[in-house]
Amino acid sequence: MTSNAATAVIDPPTVADAAAILRAGRVCAFPTETVYGLGGDATDSDAVLAIYQTKGRPRFNPLIVHCADRAMAEQVADFSPLAHALADAFWPGPLTLVLPVAPGARLSDIVTAGLNTVAVRIPAHPLALALIAAVGRPLAAPSANPSGKLSPTTAAQVRDGFEGQVPVLDGGPCSAGVESTIIAVNGNNLVQLRAGGLARSAIERVAGRPVGDAQPEAGIVAPGMLASHYAPNATLRLGATEARPGETMLGFGAIAGTLNLSLTSDLHEAARNLFAMLHELDRRGTTAIAVAPIPFEGLGEAINDRLQRAAAPRS
Ligand code: TXA
Ligand code: MG
Repeated sequence: MTSNAATAVIDPPTVADAAAILRAGRVCAFPTETVYGLGGDATDSDAVLAIYQTKGRPRFNPLIVHCADRAMAEQVADFSPLAHALADAFWPGPLTLVLPVAPGARLSDIVTAGLNTVAVRIPAHPLALALIAAVGRPLAAPSANPSGKLSPTTAAQVRDGFEGQVPVLDGGPCSAGVESTIIAVNGNNLVQLRAGGLARSAIERVAGRPVGDAQPEAGIVAPGMLASHYAPNATLRLGATEARPGETMLGFGAIAGTLNLSLTSDLHEAARNLFAMLHELDRRGTTAIAVAPIPFEGLGEAINDRLQRAAAPRS
């Protein structure tokens, strides 16, 4: 349900309808396997500006460019053999590669915020792939939430976040539930700029080399990772084994709670539930959330990253 049904925009019922909105240079939200994206034609600066305006996103924070297939991705980014190997193994899927902008790429400069690199991925969602193919151009898409708020994993959360003012192509709940893992490929070096829906260890196995960490002092960062982010309205206390007075417990495994991220301690399930449960606790008017400890292995790295950001002082 939208909170503003009387003035809400009409959602595109089909991929062709959503493609028509995007081809006209307007924004439209669409599903991916990670979270819903707020899409716009990545070759059209007016469309990209509309994304920044709709989200209230700072202009220095570049966007991910979503492609339908490798041929489209190669028109945007310059792939080294290592980048190709990672794309072969993990695309379509929750991996974003930061690569040099391809010579002659028809990308709006605003997408990259003036950097000479571009973040590119092929999402693993049939509607996303059909939509990009129908538009025939790469789509710039940040998560479809107002800047600083929780990422949406359902169409209803997108409608609520933008008060019904953004058209949404509904593809059901997202299967991965946390954003893509972002890897910068610098020659033979791999640097993880954001933990996400693909575990670091899986990337290391395919690459046959370690994946390093972002080094803010060397300027190797995803600009969007610097600020506090992914915030619910409630405060968060992490690593909790029980709720204190006034807190609502978000459990994991054997540590019980009002809601439980995964009763069986399954990290995929916990990732899929994370934003949905934080949204649900916000919806219930919760003011303080105590969160059970989550192991740091595999997808636990991304889950702990999002929880730490949500718990950080708000800027
Ligand atoms: O799963 C996802 O990645 C979702 C779905 C919609 O695909 N998208 C998403 O986009 O999370 P967004 O805009 O919320 O996050 C993009 C991140 C930001 O932290 C941004 O700073 C970083 O990618 N980024 C984009 N281009 C970059 C570049 N050229 N160099 C370094 N970081 C970049
Ligand atoms: Mg986001």
